[in-house]
Amino acid sequence: MRSIHILIPVLFFCACSPESKDTSQNAMETKVDSLVSIMTLQEKIGQLNMYNGTWEFTGPVPSDENSQEKAENIKKGLVGGMLNVLTAEGTREAQKLAVEESRLGIPLIFGYDVIHGYKTMFPIPLAQAASWDPSVGRESSAISAKEMAASGLHWAFGPVMDIARDARWGRIMEGAGEDPYLTSVFARAWVEGLQGDDLTSEETVAACAKHFAAYGFAEAGLDYSTVDISNHTLYNVALPPFKAAVDAGVATVMNAFNEIGGIPATGHRHLQRDILKGAWGFDGIMLSDWASINEMVTHGYSKDSASAAKSALLAGCDMDMESRIYERHLEGVISSGGLDEALLDDAVRRILKLKFQLGLFDDPYKYSDMERERTTILTSEHLAKARETGRKSIVLLKNDRSILPLKKAGQKIAVIGQLASSKDVVLGSWRAQAIPNSGISILEGIQGAVERSTSVSYARGYTLTKGDRTFRFELDIVEGDRSGFSEAVQVAGRSDVVILVMGEDCFQTGEGRSQVDIALKGNQEDLLKEILKVNKNVIAVLMNGRPLAIPYVAENVPAIVETWYLGSEMGNAVADVLFGDYNPTGKLPVSFPYHVGQEPLYYYVKNTGRPVPNEFDAGMVFWAHYTDSPKKALFPFGYGLSYSSFEYSDLQLTAVEKGVNVSVKVTNTSEVDGVETAQVYIRDIHASETRPAKQLVDFRKIAISAGQSETVTFTLSTEDLGFYHAGYSFYAEPGVFKIMVGGDSQNLLTEDIELDF
Ligand code: BGC
Repeated sequence: MRSIHILIPVLFFCACSPESKDTSQNAMETKVDSLVSIMTLQEKIGQLNMYNGTWEFTGPVPSDENSQEKAENIKKGLVGGMLNVLTAEGTREAQKLAVEESRLGIPLIFGYDVIHGYKTMFPIPLAQAASWDPSVGRESSAISAKEMAASGLHWAFGPVMDIARDARWGRIMEGAGEDPYLTSVFARAWVEGLQGDDLTSEETVAACAKHFAAYGFAEAGLDYSTVDISNHTLYNVALPPFKAAVDAGVATVMNAFNEIGGIPATGHRHLQRDILKGAWGFDGIMLSDWASINEMVTHGYSKDSASAAKSALLAGCDMDMESRIYERHLEGVISSGGLDEALLDDAVRRILKLKFQLGLFDDPYKYSDMERERTTILTSEHLAKARETGRKSIVLLKNDRSILPLKKAGQKIAVIGQLASSKDVVLGSWRAQAIPNSGISILEGIQGAVERSTSVSYARGYTLTKGDRTFRFELDIVEGDRSGFSEAVQVAGRSDVVILVMGEDCFQTGEGRSQVDIALKGNQEDLLKEILKVNKNVIAVLMNGRPLAIPYVAENVPAIVETWYLGSEMGNAVADVLFGDYNPTGKLPVSFPYHVGQEPLYYYVKNTGRPVPNEFDAGMVFWAHYTDSPKKALFPFGYGLSYSSFEYSDLQLTAVEKGVNVSVKVTNTSEVDGVETAQVYIRDIHASETRPAKQLVDFRKIAISAGQSETVTFTLSTEDLGFYHAGYSFYAEPGVFKIMVGGDSQNLLTEDIELDF
């Protein structure tokens, strides 16, 4: 007891003296060092320990035995952080245990999975990437940070940097899609949004780039499965978004469940120590994924938990999320000389440094503010931003006969589909503290947008899920239920236009939600066939968290609008696009296949020794193609229409010192003002390692008035033209480059240029 009285004032004197305002690196490091010097071995190990805290913190001590033990350990200073402790009140209660009852009073850090909103829900990350507008990522993350920070949280377990090229993988919805460049652009935006420029602010939180690394390359799209990619792909495709996040100052990184080439990511020394903490100079925290340290035993890599603890710390994993392996084994491993204590000290320093940066030593309760929590969360401004980011994330995939936008007056509109009336699916998967059934459904959005002279009739049509689907672990997908068909067909038959909302339940995607089939489930296509018999004016509105294989829909309806899951304001955002209050600007961040058998399908492919034109060509056999399906995408990466139309011309290249200037003229050939996203792709035609036939290196969104043209220029440097070679060395190789510019990855103007660096 005596030591508590002595040490707490010492600690707080250090933290609260005028010096503590001095944010210089040296001053903080001195504080961290002096704190580490008075910590026992157990207290140091304790800082590496992160507990799950799903118990209710309604009083100082939770009720069940396991939780009581955890609470006791917090009081003993054996815990550094927690996840899933919620609300300003709950975090305050948990914090009290650490600050007021442990010997050194070191505050806990509270983390939580926030990837597209805390209570105000924004578009899922994949949808945000479809905006090709980093401000969408930055602004929605900044609001998420503000809301979670007001609830006492310090640390968002996001953004997700996983490149996902296999639509079967359910976690594809959590990241920015298939491309390393686009994901890197969003990496910066998401990190900047969450962290702002001042981590001590009560409106920002630490970000966590995850899952390091290559988690999205799980074989056959099966979550948690083996990853076996070459260093060539690891360095050039999987790692660049993480590097972008580190360059943007991300405070933490989370490792991953998968192994890569025989080594679990959690124990991967080359990745964590050599590349992340070495080559990139990352000085923040490396957090394990949930129990991933112990899973190294199950992987068949560590022979027991003690050796898993040793491998993880050696590899550079600073903090143990919930497996309690560091807690149980590090002391023994270090005391027996199995690990140098300096490695532990380095991990402790990283954790304490973040706590200082967040201002927790100045005031450990400053984030847990009930009043701010009451007034900051779910405000009308936040909802307005959800609507704005929502409409920017929508992609118009087809619009024959200019059937869209619809008139608001004098129309008979049928809205059909179980998904159309859902106020819950719109919120998406990985939805943090979203209130169930609190979103604006598509039906409500349409009803709210039309004038009185328009009638809106709803019919459920297909049945995709049954039962209480808000219990998300047991989604009951239904096949063969046609009970809603006849009503839907009747409603369709008496309407001018049918808005058929199709796709997936949001809990068909997310962690552990891999699927072998990515076609529409729940008899949706059968219903469409019936409706088309009575009304051809069908607008398919897609809700989904992954690319879908929908060739029939693509061929047979005049309009398709990809709306993903847009969050709290989804219905209003969709109505803005359907009725022309917003001219769509989104482009696909992922390729849509004709058939699941094409997966993994992505544009960034190599030429191979036997390339064929994209089109299915029955006359050619011994070439890279499928005999029963097109090879190309149904809707390619980068694709998206607008109510305006654009033409590209005058592509010009000029070699400059160590690079090339690219200019192109983009003309709005329509009568509607609009925004186009001009995309630049390159191909290094011959290199010491083969390069993809197309690789996105830059893009720009340009507003162009009706009938006007704009000339856009890009400067590509060696950073854009080079690549990572064996040994992780990056440079550009001189030679001929193909430079391609256009509005999507398949329709491009092309010029070659010889470059010397
Ligand atoms: C996921 C992580 C997440 C963690 C904590 C894991 O299952 O892979 O992304 O941050 O759980 O909820």
